[in-house]
Amino acid sequence: MSQIIEGLDILTPEAKQEEQCAVKTTVEQNTGKQRKLYVESYGCQMNFSDSEIVTSIMQQQGFDTTDSFEKADVIFLNTCSIRDKAEQTVRKRLTQFNTLKEEKPELLVGVLGCMAERLKSQLLEEEQIVDLVAGPDAYRDLPNLVKQVDDGAKSVNTFLSREETYADINPVRLNSNGVTAFVSIMRGCDNMCSFCVVPFTRGRERSRDPHSIVREAQDLFNKGYREVTLLGQNVDSYKWSENSELKGKAQIERAGEMDVVNFANLLEMVAQVHPDLRIRFSTSHPKDITNEVLLTMKQYDNICKYIHLPAQSGNSRVLELMNRTYSREWYLDRVDAIRRILGEDCGISSDMIAGFCTEAEEEHQDTLTLIDYVQYDFSYMFYYSERPGTLAARKYEDDIPLETKKRRLREIIEKQQTISLQRNQRDVGKTFKVLVEGFSKRSDQDLQGRNSANKVIVFPKKHYRKGEYVQVRVHDCTAATLLGEAID
Ligand code: SAH
Ligand code: SF4
Ligand code: F3S
Repeated sequence: MSQIIEGLDILTPEAKQEEQCAVKTTVEQNTGKQRKLYVESYGCQMNFSDSEIVTSIMQQQGFDTTDSFEKADVIFLNTCSIRDKAEQTVRKRLTQFNTLKEEKPELLVGVLGCMAERLKSQLLEEEQIVDLVAGPDAYRDLPNLVKQVDDGAKSVNTFLSREETYADINPVRLNSNGVTAFVSIMRGCDNMCSFCVVPFTRGRERSRDPHSIVREAQDLFNKGYREVTLLGQNVDSYKWSENSELKGKAQIERAGEMDVVNFANLLEMVAQVHPDLRIRFSTSHPKDITNEVLLTMKQYDNICKYIHLPAQSGNSRVLELMNRTYSREWYLDRVDAIRRILGEDCGISSDMIAGFCTEAEEEHQDTLTLIDYVQYDFSYMFYYSERPGTLAARKYEDDIPLETKKRRLREIIEKQQTISLQRNQRDVGKTFKVLVEGFSKRSDQDLQGRNSANKVIVFPKKHYRKGEYVQVRVHDCTAATLLGEAID
């Protein structure tokens, strides 16, 4: 769940930490409605996708959106708690709104998302400027919560649901390139990785009705979109029963396999929407990714040959402490299956945590050798940040000194950068089908898109346009980007 900005050139620890806090605002929409809403999102794609649901709910209730917070009557920050730094960023941002609120006392400031869920009403006490706190399952209640604030009270809803998937809400696409879109297929997480705050902030895992997912994908395709990314914390455990009376995992298991749509089935259903609609997905969990999923990927050209398969560590003892429920050997077996079924060119990326509780130097070395073995195309790399309330915070001492964590992280990043460059050099001379997403970041004379393996490719624009598939021959590369030339 972490690919917000692709192809970062500089992979300093600080840059990687910041990257998860990418900010995105609403688009300007002016239909003469009375109040204006400004939304800013932090964290993972799931939060970005949720902001699109929030905007849809608010627009239905008579709000216009604005891309400038100075013009806003209501400001929502959709927040992340994954590491301490993510929360600090939000707190800093809140203080920046203080002068604005002094000038405009009727301004309503709401905190949504994972930090809202983690801190609940405590946030109202700690941050005076905040009027409204809403957790990830409480967004249908936002109009009501806003009304409570209008009536003079502060409002909080952090109720976590076992059923809410917002399946019927048509997201308002924010900051969209009109070509690629995120589609949530499930919410919450039932794993209990010991370092992770997500099960506490997002609640129990639940899957969304596959028919509503297919409808959304079809609708996006009709509107000109050519790629959807199916989102969930652990997409491989997607499970939905046709029998609408059956809800919850236990009942689904009792329903028998015939009634159940699993992730491989869902992939196939979405792939059949149209051969020109590309499908991506994130995040895969190493314990759950099946050969059935890999074989479905192989069967459909439009399912992209790229898997984000976070390892977190290359050492089995550390993985056990992390409660990841797989060993180094299990992980490598899954990587071998990917290479065997989908070939050497299938993109693989990872998330890595340096300096988890009690990690010894040799165990850190195991992470480096794992990276060597797998040959990831890229990775999101972090040092361990203890999160209150998690299993690790309760059971283990955060005993690796910050300097050691940072040094290990640096070593992981350096190793990964070397491998990213080598993996890109392998592609020089090859030709790829690229979906054009828009201008390159550096020049409006160049276009940029990605190949099936999720590599960013930049090439001179000639007569090509956004949303088109173009054959591009690669002639050069950096560690982050392939450079090429379109072939007519
Ligand atoms: N569901 C995804 C991960 C979501 S969080 C999965 O299971 O892979 C994204 C990434 O943030 C994680 O993969 C992990 O590498 C990192 N992360 C989570 N908690 C962290 C913590 N306490 N300290 C440092 N990194 C953390
Ligand atoms: Fe967190 Fe683990 Fe769930 Fe991922 S699978 S969201 S790391 S608990
Ligand atoms: Fe995502 Fe951050 Fe929440 S990574 S699920 S927004 S804690």
